Amino acid sequence: TMAFKYPAARRDESKVDDYHGVKICDPYAWLEDPDSEETKAFVEEQNKLSMPFLEQCAVRPQFHQRLTELYDYPKYSCPYKRGNRYFYFHNQGLQNQDALYVQDSLDGPATVFFDPNTLSADGTVALKMGRLSEECEYFAYGLSSSGSDWVTVHFLKADDLMTLPDVLDRVKFSCLAWTHDARGVFYNCYPRQDGKADGTETTSNLNQKLYYHVIGTNQSEDILVAEFPDQPKWHSGVTVSDDGRYAVLNITEGCEPVNQLWYCDLEKLPNGITGLLPWVKLVDNFEAQYSYITNEGSVFTFRTNLDAPRYCLINIDLEKPNKEHWRTLLPQHDKDVLGSVASVNQRHLLVNYVHDVKDILQLYELSTGGLVRDLPLDVGTVVGLSCKKKHSDFFYKFTSFTTPGVIYHCDLSQASPEPTVFRQVEVKGIQQEDYETNQVFYPSKDGTKIPMFLVHARGLKKDGSHPVFLYGYGGFEHSIQPYYNVPYLLFVRHLGGILAVANIRGGGEYGQTWHKGGTLGNKQNCFDDFRCAAEYLIQENYTTARRIAINGASNGGLLVAACVNQCPDLFGCAVAKVGVMDMLKFHKFTIGHAWTTDYELNYYLSLPPLTLRYSPLHNLPPPPHIGAAYPAMLLLTGDHDDRVVPLHTLKYCATLQHGVGNSPGQAQPLMVRVDTRSGHGAGKPTTKAILEDTHVFSFIEERRVKNHFRSQKAR
Ligand SMILES: *[C@@H]1O[C@H](CO)[C@@H](O)[C@H](O)[C@H]1NC(C)=O
Ligand SMILES: *[C@@H]1O[C@H](CO)[C@@H](O)[C@H](O)[C@H]1NC(C)=O
Ligand SMILES: *[C@@H]1O[C@H](CO)[C@@H](O)[C@H](O)[C@H]1NC(C)=O
Repeated sequence: TMAFKYPAARRDESKVDDYHGVKICDPYAWLEDPDSEETKAFVEEQNKLSMPFLEQCAVRPQFHQRLTELYDYPKYSCPYKRGNRYFYFHNQGLQNQDALYVQDSLDGPATVFFDPNTLSADGTVALKMGRLSEECEYFAYGLSSSGSDWVTVHFLKADDLMTLPDVLDRVKFSCLAWTHDARGVFYNCYPRQDGKADGTETTSNLNQKLYYHVIGTNQSEDILVAEFPDQPKWHSGVTVSDDGRYAVLNITEGCEPVNQLWYCDLEKLPNGITGLLPWVKLVDNFEAQYSYITNEGSVFTFRTNLDAPRYCLINIDLEKPNKEHWRTLLPQHDKDVLGSVASVNQRHLLVNYVHDVKDILQLYELSTGGLVRDLPLDVGTVVGLSCKKKHSDFFYKFTSFTTPGVIYHCDLSQASPEPTVFRQVEVKGIQQEDYETNQVFYPSKDGTKIPMFLVHARGLKKDGSHPVFLYGYGGFEHSIQPYYNVPYLLFVRHLGGILAVANIRGGGEYGQTWHKGGTLGNKQNCFDDFRCAAEYLIQENYTTARRIAINGASNGGLLVAACVNQCPDLFGCAVAKVGVMDMLKFHKFTIGHAWTTDYELNYYLSLPPLTLRYSPLHNLPPPPHIGAAYPAMLLLTGDHDDRVVPLHTLKYCATLQHGVGNSPGQAQPLMVRVDTRSGHGAGKPTTKAILEDTHVFSFIEERRVKNHFRSQKAR
């Protein structure tokens, strides 16, 4: 007797791929076509099972109400100055999208400058990027629909808010950089492709090009300024230098933090920008990353990981470009990672270091690299920094797991400048002192110490009784620093839960070395690190296996699914969002080819590909499954996810239900929630976010309560 009846999905055993002699059956390959009637029927059948299940959880109405209350607090970004005016994003509380406001002075009245909420009834049109021109003549803004990565760029005049007729299409993974004369913008777009391009397609994104759009002209007349016909996977982006003189071009191949660095002196173009630019190749290889920070004349400051896995600042004089003339401005720190760097007040640099996953903010002299002062910061993260080289004042926004946001303002033109609290928001019913955040360091399988944040009620007893929400990512040098997340507070405050965020390898928490420790041939370290986090929490008597819910998204969805395959009985519940599940084919769809920097796919060096060892799809047990039962699993994806296309989750789900789901020992549900008009996550309207969080946490809580009764009965 099976606990759940899953929809029968056709298995096509004749679909076999040959990986240089290794034959792998892919029976659900038909799910790779998002438009076939059969795929649509599969999705519908799955939602018919999962949606009523999620909607009927006992706690669902309370959770939805409480989450709505917790989301309902005013949100603000750091203000930034353009021309003589200040701009900032604001959400009154439950608006689907943040709106952009403008004011003449910081204490003057503010009016709406641009409100994406007016663009769609359900809030699914999001402002993906927006750039005001240097003297605030125009606002260029990119909109995306239904969570897709595709962007359409529009323009308006900043003084009277008149929309211009200019529209730029086929924009994706793009820069948007004004030349200081406000004549136009640099941006990237893709050539027209066969078939649709609305975010539901799986077509590979290749041959991106860089254009200059002149305001008042048709996109068809845009000036091609850079292309790489022999290198279809290259991506580029332009930054216009602080002094407006140079276009600085970086080129990347995949997700590895390395780039080529070209530049063009715009003042030396006799007729302005009229065609392919005469780029000077300052760096023409992919050995390290170089990020433009600022320049004083021909002396450029870059943040780089060249011989510095924790990053440093170097100066390169364009007039003496050879490496022997490169000079270190801020050397690599012996432990901390040099994070973001920005120039301010003509002669200063704001520098963020990451010390054991917590932020430090400091002010340095640009000319000497000398430390001016520390800026006070609680334990947490700087999530926003707004400043401009020519302005003396700057803002920064601090958050932590329990602080939604404090914005500081500091004016360096003052005699003794001190940051002051500019804005601080409170959330009804959330008192800082009720919670504690601790950082622990637990040993992984190979002995490496992994940092982990634990957030819970003050004075919590280690009696093994607490539900745990364990989150991880572990990829692409992306660090998971403390952040404010509404549903976490529901979990900690109302369910007596412990939030655990494990800073596993693959991330950037300790720089490039930490990243490389969890990529390619070392990818298994990510899963070991995550598994050891759960084991530590059990060993330390915080919880028991059945009370642990694990969660991750995207590369973190892969993490969750791989860990469940490797130790199914270590977790009570697993929620994998928009995961990368098919590690043999991920590179074939949309931008997947860029991830071979983290996932080993070199058939010639390793046969079969190394990814086969952990690929969630390929390590699921066939029926009948007689091993340890799987935890309750909730998979999530969206029909417009063109970052990690839904087929990963769909094929994984079909295989999971076929093998594990149809086994008599499997009491826990294995379900997928496929949202519509929904993508990878960015730009998700508040209404959808609340509903998704409601479903996820209802699923977790319902399973935990049922588990609890079950284990009591067993005793
Ligand atoms: C822009 O040019 C294209 C192709 O030449 C044309 O189809 C389109 O109508 C033009 N758009 C405008 C707004 O003139
Ligand atoms: C490359 O340029 C883009 C666009 O300005 C920017 O967002 C990105 O951070 C740059 N990358 C590096 C490594 O500097
Ligand atoms: C865990 O907590 C329970 C309940 O307080 C207690 O009985 C047990 O001894 C603890 N176990 C360990 C290993 O500390």
